[in-house]
Amino acid sequence: MNAFSSRLGTVVRPCDEAGIKEAVSLIRSGLPVAVPTETVYGLAADAASNEAVARIYQAKGRPSFNPLIVHVADIEQALSIAAFSEETLKIAQLFWPGPLTMVLPLKKEAPIASIVTAGLKRVAIRMPSHPVMRALILSSRCLLAAPSANKSGAISPTSAQHVKNSLDGRIPLILDGGLTEDGLESTIIAPENDKIHLLRYGPITIEALKKATALPIVETHKENSTSHPIEAPGQLSSHYAPHQPVKLEVEVKQPDEWHIGFGKIEGDDNLSFTGDLVEAAAHLFAALHRAEASGCRQIVIAPIPDHGIGRAINDRLRRAAAPR
Ligand code: TXA
Ligand code: MG
Repeated sequence: MNAFSSRLGTVVRPCDEAGIKEAVSLIRSGLPVAVPTETVYGLAADAASNEAVARIYQAKGRPSFNPLIVHVADIEQALSIAAFSEETLKIAQLFWPGPLTMVLPLKKEAPIASIVTAGLKRVAIRMPSHPVMRALILSSRCLLAAPSANKSGAISPTSAQHVKNSLDGRIPLILDGGLTEDGLESTIIAPENDKIHLLRYGPITIEALKKATALPIVETHKENSTSHPIEAPGQLSSHYAPHQPVKLEVEVKQPDEWHIGFGKIEGDDNLSFTGDLVEAAAHLFAALHRAEASGCRQIVIAPIPDHGIGRAINDRLRRAAAPR
C-alpha cells in the first residue's frame, strides 16, 4: 500500500543528494512530492500512473476536469509524447528549458495517464530549467505531471514555507530550494492552424514570443475574444485568492487595509521600489501570502504597468480580486 498517511506529517528537506534520493523513491512508489522550479513550487508525480496523479488531485482538492502540465528533461522526452511541427519545434528550442508551456497534440502511444490530460487530445508540456526538477525527472526516469503546489484556488507557492502552509499533512515531502526565481507560473501557448493561442500570461512575454515567430499571437483567454478553440480549463476567473477581498489600482489605503505598493507608492509592503516589473513578478505571490497573514480586512494593490511581464502580474491580480 503506497498511499501516504497524513499521520506521518510533511517533511521538509534541503535539495541535496539525500533529499533528491528520498524524493525519487517517493515518486517511484507513486506519491507526489513538492519541488522547486524556476516559476513556482510544483507538486510532482509520475505522469504515467493514474493512481500517482490522482494523489496530486487529492492533495490539492483540485477539480478533476483540470488537466496538468507534463515536465520533461529534454527534447526527446517531449517528442515521445507530443506531435511537433517545424514551427513548434523552433519555438521549443528557443525557449526551453524555461518558463514556457506548450499545448500540443498528444501522441497515441504516449506513456501518459489519461487523468493527466483529463481526457483531452492535447497535452501541456514544459521543460523546466531548475536543476532540482531536472534531476528529479532524470533520476526517477519518470515524466512528471506537476501543478503548482498549493490547495486548488489558493495563492501559488514561491517558497517551501508557502507549500507547507497550504499542504501540510497532505503530502509526504517538500524539497526546499529557497525562493523561486521567476515567481509566476509559466506562459502557456497552444500553437494551431498558423496561429498561436496565448492561454496564460507568464514570464515569457508576448513581446518575446512575437520576436520568436512570424505567426500571429491570439490572446485567446481575453474576455472579448471570439475564438475559443482551445482553453486552459484551469484559468478560472477566481484563482490565487487570499482569504480577504482584494482591490486593485489603489494609490491611498484606508486604515484597516493592507497596501501592496509598487515603485513610489510605498505601501505596507512593496513589489519593487525601483518599479522593476521582473522583480515585482518574483515578489508577487510572497507579498500576497504576507498580506493574507496580516489579518487585515481588505488587501489593496497599487497600479502595475500593463506591459511586458506586467501583463502576467495584472492577470494574476485580476483573478485574485475576482468575485468568489
Ligand atoms: O510554471 C508552471 O507552469 C507551474 C510549474 C509547477 O511548472 N505549473 C503550473 O501548473 O502552473 P497548474 O496546474 O497550476 O496550471 C496549469 C494550467 C492550467 O490552467 C490547466 O488548465 C492548463 O495549464 N492545462 C494543462 N493541460 C492542458 C491541456 N491539455 N490543454 C489546455 N490547458 C491545459
Ligand atoms: Mg496553479
